Amino acid sequence: MSNGFETLAIHAGQEPDPLTGAVVPPIYATSTYKQDGVGGLRSGYEYSRSANPTRTALEEALAAVEGGTRGLAFASGLAAEDTFLRAVCKPQDHVVIPNDAYGGTYRLFAKVNERWDLHYDPVPLHDLDAVAAAMTQKTKVVWVETPTNPLLGIADIAALAQLAHDNGALLVVDNTFASPYLQQPLALGADVVVHSTTKYVGGHSDVVGGALIAADAGLGEELAYHQNAMGAVAGPFDAWLTLRGLKTLGVRMDRHCDNAERVVDLLLAHPRVTDVLYPGLGDHPGHEVAAKQMKRFGGMVSFRVAGGEAEAVEVCNRAKLFTLGESLGGVESLIEHPGRMTHASAAGSPLEVPSDLVRLSVGIETVDDLLADLTQALA
Ligand SMILES: Cc1ncc(COP(=O)(O)O)c(C=O)c1O
Repeated sequence: MSNGFETLAIHAGQEPDPLTGAVVPPIYATSTYKQDGVGGLRSGYEYSRSANPTRTALEEALAAVEGGTRGLAFASGLAAEDTFLRAVCKPQDHVVIPNDAYGGTYRLFAKVNERWDLHYDPVPLHDLDAVAAAMTQKTKVVWVETPTNPLLGIADIAALAQLAHDNGALLVVDNTFASPYLQQPLALGADVVVHSTTKYVGGHSDVVGGALIAADAGLGEELAYHQNAMGAVAGPFDAWLTLRGLKTLGVRMDRHCDNAERVVDLLLAHPRVTDVLYPGLGDHPGHEVAAKQMKRFGGMVSFRVAGGEAEAVEVCNRAKLFTLGESLGGVESLIEHPGRMTHASAAGSPLEVPSDLVRLSVGIETVDDLLADLTQALA
């Protein structure tokens, strides 16, 4: 099979159903499978926590589009993260995390895993010396998010992979913001990619899910063992919706990028906007690295406003076509105030976000309508 991205997204793991020829993998709504005599499994299926054909189709497609050997689909992005950490780390190990990670990822380290004696240090990942200084004998994982949520910080995946490997640690990249269409962390040296497939991969704001994709087959097997042992799997309907979204990821991402670039131009020229955070901008501190490792710069845009928190909240409240809501990566545009919404759990921590910040998930609606809505919201 040709290995172009869109071809893989549409066909990998998705051979027509052998029984009927259905071109779309069916939703196998079954918990168990008839055995042909004790231990006589048909195609290896035994029980749907362990494996389900609809989930298998999604997992194979995810592995193919990320260039990994094994893909695993979970009930949410955080379930994927938790499974990875408990598969790879043990008490007293140490993880380096970004100092502006997604708030829920930070909460998983700070409020859940810390209690089990898994230590972490938030570090600015663009500063390779700071990352090297934070690593200890016990560092098992360097956790990367690039671009970051919500500050759109950029980390150099290839350089961090080298650094992690020189210290005997694994490099994990949360590829949620870029999606595999714009960025291929495994090809840059990462060991594992994590996704909230809730976002661009699913792409339609109708399903919550997560994924792990491993470069190495042995590590993939270990993660699959823990996926089954811990049980936070994607259900068949969720897997089916996510797979349907994945098929159009490439065309959607191109339109997200086109629209985001126009939104950025509008914000840059607006007198109420004091700062625009977008890795496609030449003066973004991570621009050069982003240009090296990303195909384009994505659909997420954050900005700060002159009137502080009150104005940021007002802009969010006034927007109409940009729907006020958490999450991102769907076809519809969303607006939110990270300090009070997605990143409220990071308040008072080193990962607290500026209170005058507004985050946009720029959707694929008619761009002139999006520009008109932002203009009125900022008025
Ligand atoms: C970058 C990033 N990683 C992980 C997650 C967690 O994923 P989920 O909400 O699917 O558990 C999110 C959710 O917003 C996210 O934005």
